[in-house]
Amino acid sequence: MSYYIGVMSGTSLDGIDIALSDFSDSGEFGFIAAETFPIPTELHGKLLLLINNQETTLEELGAIDIVLGQLIGKLINQFLTQHQLGADDITAIGSHGQTIYHSPNSSYPFSQQIGNANVIAEMTGITTVADFRQRDIAAGGQGAPLVPAFHQALFRSLNEDRFIVNIGGISNLTLLPSSSKQAVIGFDTGPGNVLIDYWTQSQLKQPYDRGGQWAASGQCDNEYLSLLLNEPYFKQTIPKSTGRELFNAKWFEKVTHQYRHNINPADIQATLVELTTRTISDEIKTYATSKYQVFICGGGAHNDYLLTRLQDLLGERQVSTTEIIGLHPDWVEACAFSWLAYRTMTKQAGNLPSVTGAKHPTTLGAIYPA
Ligand SMILES: Nc1ncnc2c1ncn2[C@@H]1O[C@H](COP(=O)(O)OP(=O)(O)OP(=O)(O)O)[C@@H](O)[C@H]1O
Ligand SMILES: [Mg+2]
Repeated sequence: MSYYIGVMSGTSLDGIDIALSDFSDSGEFGFIAAETFPIPTELHGKLLLLINNQETTLEELGAIDIVLGQLIGKLINQFLTQHQLGADDITAIGSHGQTIYHSPNSSYPFSQQIGNANVIAEMTGITTVADFRQRDIAAGGQGAPLVPAFHQALFRSLNEDRFIVNIGGISNLTLLPSSSKQAVIGFDTGPGNVLIDYWTQSQLKQPYDRGGQWAASGQCDNEYLSLLLNEPYFKQTIPKSTGRELFNAKWFEKVTHQYRHNINPADIQATLVELTTRTISDEIKTYATSKYQVFICGGGAHNDYLLTRLQDLLGERQVSTTEIIGLHPDWVEACAFSWLAYRTMTKQAGNLPSVTGAKHPTTLGAIYPA
């Protein structure tokens, strides 16, 4: 039995998730504990500015990489103390870092995460695996999404085809066919909560629309929705991945300004939920087979209105969360990075070429020894 830590801070910038997992000698994953820690206001503001404006100096970039690394190191130490564990108990940390730019389709493709792993290894005294995406990109892949490989390991069933939908800032979908002859499919469908959060923050001055109550008070405007759905990303063929470089305030404001009719803020909110749920349900219908189930994870699993709309759009198919198949929806992503670190430390591939488009399976990440 070996213990691994997974650390994730996703596109929503809502907090840093830390998960503790164990792996049996045969590599079977087990969940032990997890927690979300807030990002201090000053750092949160700097990260948001950096990601939104895509402008900085080399000095600032270097500094913020260290500050985030120090925060992650401190939080891991705090988390381990809470669970009465020491550095020697943990084989490795898998730290995703904060994505500041994801550019898998450019002439010189890359995906850049920050949160300095040297600092994490130094502060915790634990071997740290980081920079998971670049190797897949070097092998011709998108470098994303990486979680479908973990979904496959944990959630695949021989009895039914399963869709796992992670609704974080961005939404990604994994199809796990029951037949081992069929390849796993996975890609980013587009916005998850990122636009819903942006509009809530700008209009209500709240971090998110709790339970989707505000959206539920509005009405979807179909003409406005069509304009949002015109985005070419939705029609792109797979493999594909996206991020805040595309779906951000600028994208939202540009499309919304093209809309010439009056629309009240609650109706905009309802339409943004519809954008998330329509793009997810359309993709599910594209790949749907006769016998499938849908399981949701990520923060979107707490948005009751969003789940109700998704259920309506998918008709008779029962939409549940991943909790009923073994892992609470809040911890899937962080656990995935503990699993990816386990794969790296045991010299096993972490990517799924059928998902990312990489030329071959490969071990991912860089190892920073304790
Ligand atoms: N009670 C709630 N009601 C409505 N929305 C919620 C609630 N709790 C969380 N959320 C939404 O979930 C988001 C956080 O989700 P999550 O942590 O999965 O995203 P993430 O960190 O961006 O991950 P990813 O890497 O998958 O993009 C919040 O920003 C918010 O929009
Ligand atoms: Mg999060």
